[in-house]
Parts: sequence; structure tokens; C-alpha cells
Amino acid sequence: MPKPKIFVTRNIPQPALDRLEEVFDVSVHASGASLGREEFLRAVEDADALLCLLTDSIDKELLDAAPKLKCVSNLAVGYNNIDVRYATQKGIAVCNTPGVLTETTADLAWALLMACARRLVEADKYVRESRFDGWGPLLMLGVDVHGKTLGVIGMGRIGRAVARRAEGFGMRVLWFDPKADPGSMPPEYERTDLENLCLQADFISIHAPLTSDTRHLIGAQQFALMGPKTILVNTARGPIVDETALIKALQEKKIAAAGLDVYEREPEVPAELLALDNAVLLPHIGSASIETRTQMALMAAENAIAVINGQEPPARVN
Ligand code: GLV
Repeated sequence: MPKPKIFVTRNIPQPALDRLEEVFDVSVHASGASLGREEFLRAVEDADALLCLLTDSIDKELLDAAPKLKCVSNLAVGYNNIDVRYATQKGIAVCNTPGVLTETTADLAWALLMACARRLVEADKYVRESRFDGWGPLLMLGVDVHGKTLGVIGMGRIGRAVARRAEGFGMRVLWFDPKADPGSMPPEYERTDLENLCLQADFISIHAPLTSDTRHLIGAQQFALMGPKTILVNTARGPIVDETALIKALQEKKIAAAGLDVYEREPEVPAELLALDNAVLLPHIGSASIETRTQMALMAAENAIAVINGQEPPARVN
């Protein structure tokens, strides 16, 4: 019997491809260039499963172009790139990769937080530009992290892992998440509303999924509540922050700095952001460690394999 077919939209860690080969006839869009839409639509015509990226738009048109499709396996925990409702209507399983990237993404949120607080990128540039001419009492002064207040927006797995790290810095933790169960949270973390979190937190880290409720959750109104020392970190999804309002807040020093791994119209990064010294900008690398990307790819592979074998996949979202 011929093997079922899977289309993989980008090269992924080899162990996951090897695992897929055991079950599927695997076709990979391996070129460095991103996959053109027409090419993508053609590639799924005879696919039984699809392993895709958060940058692939899996909309009605794409799902209709794949009449045999049984599984969309996203190589990401977030799945706002997929029309889950339509996939569900069509009986297509949608899967993601929760859990395996939690700690790695929390590490990166902290790396951004620290980089902003202690001006690491600016300081590195300063040295490279041969401007370092000796220790100075006022040179590159940042702000302390220890003992401050961290505000976490979105207390899912990643938000909690970020909060847990704050304990080591002796920080007070505030959190806002209308969907989280307060009973499951450590009692020393203080639940609050978004307004109060913006008013009180020195550092704000976003870990919510992108939904119609969270789009532009942080905008001009919230920046007005923050102070000139507030540092905002976003490793979740760009559109949760109104980028125009963020740029204005940074330009006018309404907030101190922002550490961003994600952007509103990714991969476009506005020139105004690029021009700012008080923004640390990363290319969406929250889960980008060798270990974690391998785990994610293996999980995405197991998701697709389970669906094709008629079993319950490790992580199905619909
Ligand atoms: C990365 O952004 C993910 O959702 O896994």
C-alpha cells in the first residue's frame, strides 16, 4: 500500500524528518526562500497531512485546496495562523506543540528583560564602535531588576515559567489573565486587572495567545498608565501590542524600553523601531534552541503520525 503523503513547508530538524519518513511519503519545501502561495496550494493538492509553520497562512482557500487533508500540524504552540473553525468543520485535526517550548521561551523573555534593563545591546554597540575609554560613574546606567515588580499578561505555561524565574530575583509578581484559574496560581502571585498591572509593574511581559480579545490589548491607553521606567517585553504575538502606539511611547520616553521578539506585521519591522536605542529587537526566536526546536519538530511529527493512524495525537487543539 502506498504511504500517506505529508507536505512539510520548510526544512525542519532531521530527527523529525526521519520519524516522518517511517510513516509518510514526505515532501519538504527545503529551499531557503519562503513558499509562494501558488506553490503552496499546489503542494497540498494530494497531501494527507501538512506540517506547517506559524508563518504559513492556513485559511479556507488552503484547506479547500487539500481535499485529502486529515491533519494540520503546526510547528508552534500558537495557532492563530490557522482557520481552526473551518478545519474543524472539514473534519481536519489541528495540532500544535505546547509544553516543549515553555522554558526556552521563558528564558528568552528574561533575556530581553535583562537586555533592556541593563542596556546590553546599546553597551555592546558602544564597545564595538571603540567608544569605551574607561569605567565611568555614569556610563550606561540601566535599572535594577531584583526586588522590582513583574507584571505578567497571560498566565499559561509560559507566563508561569516567566513568573517562576522572577522568584530568583526577589520580585513581586502581578498577573492579568481573565481565562486563568486563580486557584491554580501560587498564592504569592497577585492577580490584578490590566489597568493596575500597567500602573504598578516595572517590567511587563506578554504571554497571551493572539485572539480577537487580545489584539491591541496594549495600546495608547495602557502606555499612558505605564511610567517612564516601565519596560515592556513581548515574546508572544506582535498584534497584541498596537505597534504605532508603542513606537510613540518609546519615542516620547513614556516608557523606558521594549524588548520585542515579535512584530505586528511580521517580518516587517518599522523603520521607526529600528531607529530606537531603547528597543531590543529579535527575529522571533523565542523557542529557537537546538534542543527545543528538535523537540517541537518531533512533537509535530508525532501529531501528524497519530492522526494518520487514527490515534489521539499528543496535542490537538480542535
Ligand atoms: C512561537 O511563536 C510559537 O507559537 O511556538
